[in-house]
Amino acid sequence: MTLAIVSALPDELAALQARLDVDHVSTLAGRRLHRGRLAGHDVILVLSGIGKVAAATTAALLLDRFDVQALLFTGVAGGLGPGVAVGDVVVGRQFLQHDMDASPLFPRWEVPMTGRSRFDADGAWSARLVTGAAAVLAAEHPALASFGIAAPRVHQGLVVSGDRFVSSAAECARLQAELPDALAVEMEGAALAQVAHDFGRPCAVLRTISDRADDAAHVDFPRFLREVAAEYARDIVLAALAA
Ligand code: ADE
Repeated sequence: MTLAIVSALPDELAALQARLDVDHVSTLAGRRLHRGRLAGHDVILVLSGIGKVAAATTAALLLDRFDVQALLFTGVAGGLGPGVAVGDVVVGRQFLQHDMDASPLFPRWEVPMTGRSRFDADGAWSARLVTGAAAVLAAEHPALASFGIAAPRVHQGLVVSGDRFVSSAAECARLQAELPDALAVEMEGAALAQVAHDFGRPCAVLRTISDRADDAAHVDFPRFLREVAAEYARDIVLAALAA
């Protein structure tokens, strides 16, 4: 069984890639696919690029052209939920495109002609990510300690995606008011989940929280990405693969 592990940005995947026992590297639609063995699994590691279209294209290629049995996405997100702080982990259980709006033809957020606004993550893979995150947090990750993060938590629930980097307190407050159960905002997860649903294949999404999607997000995001994200997510994914 081959597992595809996808990230949007090089910093989100670099540390995992360094651990890959590479068999083969190829290019498809501008994406470099690194195939090999990771923690006892056959995997393909690939960068999707940023945004819903980039994620959807990557997911469709992986599911159509390769014998990929499950899609895992790992990356950072902005915290939206009241208790979701920088350094926390969010495992998405449901995904919604917060910028999807074909109203009044269809209800707001509904993906037209599907009858749904929310797409589910795979339960078993999500549970493995939660187990992996809990194991890493129990051991006090060094990257977090040097970043000054004290007691990170693991959350599970709704992740919302859109083609916007949310970087103002006003926009963050609007999302919180409109989608009160949303834990985190990012730019790929809901697209990946929709494509996985179309193909009838499992997907799971791990997000570490880099910022609070507020007026400081443009400063917090690159700093977390530079100093924490890669090693932190690598260790969670490796623990999940071992679980
Ligand atoms: N990914 C990480 N932080 C984000 C934010 N504030 N908005 C959208 N995507 C993000």
